[in-house]
Amino acid sequence: MEFNKPMFKNNELKNKVIVVTGGGSGLGKSMTRYFLQLGAKVAITSRDIEKLDKTASELKTETGGDILTVRCDVRNYTEVEEMLNSTISEFGKVDVLLNNAAGNFISPTERLSSNAFDTVIDIVLKGSKNCTLAFGKHWIDKKQDQTVVLNIITTYAWTGSGYVVPSAMAKAGVLAMTRSLADEWAKYGIRMNAIAPGPFPTKGAWDRLLPGDLKERFDFSKKVPLRRVGEHQELANLAAFLISDFSAYINGEVITIDGGEWLQGAGQFNMLQQLPKEMWDMLEMMIRKNKKGHQ
Ligand code: HXC
Ligand code: NAP
Repeated sequence: MEFNKPMFKNNELKNKVIVVTGGGSGLGKSMTRYFLQLGAKVAITSRDIEKLDKTASELKTETGGDILTVRCDVRNYTEVEEMLNSTISEFGKVDVLLNNAAGNFISPTERLSSNAFDTVIDIVLKGSKNCTLAFGKHWIDKKQDQTVVLNIITTYAWTGSGYVVPSAMAKAGVLAMTRSLADEWAKYGIRMNAIAPGPFPTKGAWDRLLPGDLKERFDFSKKVPLRRVGEHQELANLAAFLISDFSAYINGEVITIDGGEWLQGAGQFNMLQQLPKEMWDMLEMMIRKNKKGHQ
């Protein structure tokens, strides 16, 4: 199986300028690497310029691609506008916004201060809105079409989840934004889609969501019907497709890439997966016998 190999090979993203928020680490870094390999020019942004510069120098050496770093806290609209202007000054234009930056940690909701709650909502919901609004206004003003916004959400945007409630609320809002603007801004040639990843190991997410021995106690791979976590290249392949011209007719969609994780939690009888094979003969016999008793 070649699921962890690059899907496109031939400069499919050449001439595209892409902004990846939170591009200095984790999934943002992996997607950026692949976009550079496919010939795109990429600006990565986050709060930590040293981290961004280190990532940029690593990826430039690895891919030979054109990469720019811009410090920007997505919670601040003025900083977002400045980040957009810096990208345009360097690359002449921008075609794609990838809203990937996020903040999250696990906690019983009643333990959260109001500020803790707001911090996650501000990064995820307000941050994605800030970037989308600034970029959308720019594209509409300049009459630049064939532009794309891709939002990274989660599957609990629609199922909800305890212990990550601010994140679930914020990602649900980003999903609503995706579907709303896919319709409203299509007339300006702006496409808007989302990806809902299941578990993809990254330091940022794992340290905050599975600290200490939780990694061993709640092994994510056991929750996934395909019995493995995701590989970064798989996500990068999907993201590259969704920002490329090959997905020109996909608009307002959320694509789940989770090995079936959320559906396993949803199906009422999916827990029967745990039963050993031998038990099924006995169970079938018992059920059939019961049926006869009712005739
Ligand atoms: C309770 C906490 C807390 C915790 C912080 N706070 N951590 N409360 N439990 N573990 C509180 C603080 O006390 C403070 O409230 C408020 O939150 C803000 O904290 P700061 O540290 O000042 O905020 P900031 O420096 O802006 O950091 C934001 C952060 C941090 C979200 C708290 O974790 C961060 O920078 N995260 C960025 C990267 C990240 O989270 N990546 C994972 C994305 S994973 P008070 O009241 O004291 O002022 C993801 C995966 C989803 O989304 C699905 C996976 C399967
Ligand atoms: P990560 O490495 O921690 O990525 C989060 C990024 O967001 C960091 O680079 C961080 O950079 C940036 N960021 C945080 N606050 C910011 C702010 N205020 N302004 C600008 N940038 C900010 O974690 P990840 O796992 O790769 O997550 C990437 C995306 O995937 C997120 O949207 C996450 O919700 C989503 N996701 C991940 C998983 C998973 O299993 N890993 C599953 C579902 C969804 P700085 O700290 O330098 O600012």
